Amino acid sequence: MLRENIPDLSRFVEPDRVRKEVYTDPAIFELEMERIHEKVWIYCGHESQVPKAGDYYTVQIGRQPMLMVRGSDGKVNVLYNRCPHRGNMMCGDRHGNTGEFFRCSYHAWTFHHDGKLRNIPMMESGYAGTRLNKDSPELCMKHAARVENYRGFVFASLASDGPSLKEFLGKGIVAFDDMCDRAPEGEVEVVPTCFRVIQKSNWKIFLENQLDALHPSVTHQSTGRAAHDVEKILAKKTGKAPISYHMLSAFATVTIDKWDNFQTINYPHGHCVLTGYMGLRPQDPDTLAYDKVMIKAYGQKRFEEIVGVNIHHVLLYPGLSVQSPLQQLRAVRPLGVDRTLTEIWHFRLKGAPEAIYRRSLAYYNLVNSPSTLINADDLENFWKCHQGLSSDGGDWVSFARHLGRDIEKDGAVETAPGCGTSEAPMRNQMKAWASYMNGGK
Ligand code: FES
Ligand SMILES: [Fe+2]
Repeated sequence: MLRENIPDLSRFVEPDRVRKEVYTDPAIFELEMERIHEKVWIYCGHESQVPKAGDYYTVQIGRQPMLMVRGSDGKVNVLYNRCPHRGNMMCGDRHGNTGEFFRCSYHAWTFHHDGKLRNIPMMESGYAGTRLNKDSPELCMKHAARVENYRGFVFASLASDGPSLKEFLGKGIVAFDDMCDRAPEGEVEVVPTCFRVIQKSNWKIFLENQLDALHPSVTHQSTGRAAHDVEKILAKKTGKAPISYHMLSAFATVTIDKWDNFQTINYPHGHCVLTGYMGLRPQDPDTLAYDKVMIKAYGQKRFEEIVGVNIHHVLLYPGLSVQSPLQQLRAVRPLGVDRTLTEIWHFRLKGAPEAIYRRSLAYYNLVNSPSTLINADDLENFWKCHQGLSSDGGDWVSFARHLGRDIEKDGAVETAPGCGTSEAPMRNQMKAWASYMNGGK
C-alpha cells in the first residue's frame, strides 16, 4: 500500500541533495521502519545490563517493543514484549528481574526465558478440542529472527535473512574493538543507567549531525569560548586546568578552518569513522598510571597499537553513534516522523584505574548529557531543522560540500586531504537509505 503511495523513491534522493519529504512524510517514516529499522542489525544493549538469569531490559526496535533477557543457561535472548494470549506487554517496567520465568499480569500464562510456553492455567480443560495445545508454536513469545553478540554488545535483526552482524558492521566494528581493547581486561561494562532524550525531529537529522565536522565550532562556539576563558584563568592560577575543561574548550580552540584537517572514512551500509581530534594521550599522572596497567596487561607493542588507534567517532547506520576512546554510545530509536529517542550510555573499562572512568563520566556529563549546553545547542538545531523542513520555504536539503573530491579506496569513500568538512558522511548515509528503501539488504 505504501509502495503505491510512494511510487518512485529514487526521485527523493540525488547524489548531492535530498527531498524534504524524506524527513517529514509519515508514510515514508512507516516504510523506513519496515525496510530499515525492522530489518537491519539494531543495537539492543550491552550484556552487562542483564547480568543474572531473569534480568531483562526493554528496547524499541523500529515500531516493535522488544526485550532483552538473560536465560538460566546464560544466553541473552531478544523477544517481542508481547504475550501470545491477548497481546498484553509482558514487561511494563523498563527493566527488572522476571524471576525463574515470565508471568503475564493478565491471565497468568507463563513462559521460559527463551520465550517457550511454560504453563497456561487449566490448559487441558480450557483448550481441549481447540486448535491450541501445549506444543503450538503460536503459544510461545516470539523471538527476534536473529540475535548476535559482539564483545558484549547485543544486536538483533527482525529479518531472518541478510548479512551477518560482522558483515553488516564491516570496518565499523572498530568501534567495539577500540572501546574494549582500551580496557586492561579487554572488556567493558555498562554504567547501569542512561540519559534519555526525546528530540522533536526526524531520526536522520541526529545521525547527519554526528559526523558533521562543519558545525562544532559554529554551533558550540559560545560554550567552547566560555570554557576556554575559565580554563585560561585556572591554568594561570594553578599551572594547569583539569582535562575536563579541554573537552569543552576544544569546541572553540579547534576553529572552523582546522576542521578541514580531519578526515571521515565512509563505508558500505552508511557507516562512517571520523579520525581523532582531541589528543587524548595527555601526560598527566592519571593517564600515566593507566598506561602502566595497560602495558602490564598487553606489553609495550600492543599497548602502543591500542592507544594509537586514531578515531574519535564511529557512526553505525541507522542507529548508533559510538565514541570509543571515551567509552560513550548513543542509540537512536525513532518514535515517529518528528520524534526521536536517543539513549546516551557510557561504559567502564574493566581493570582500568577509577580516574579513567571519571574522565569518561566527565565527557558524558559535559558533552553528551541533556543538561550540557553542547547537547542543548544541537537539540535546538535539530528542532529548528525539522520546523524549516516542514515548511513550504524550499524542497531540498543540500549535501554538496566537497562533492566530487571524495576518494574511493578499497570499497570505502575517504574525504580528500583538506576536505574534513565534506558532507560525504551524509551522502553515504542517504546512499544506504536509498538502497534499503529500494529493497536492498
Ligand atoms: S494476555 Fe497474557 S495471559 Fe492473557
Ligand atoms: Fe554538535
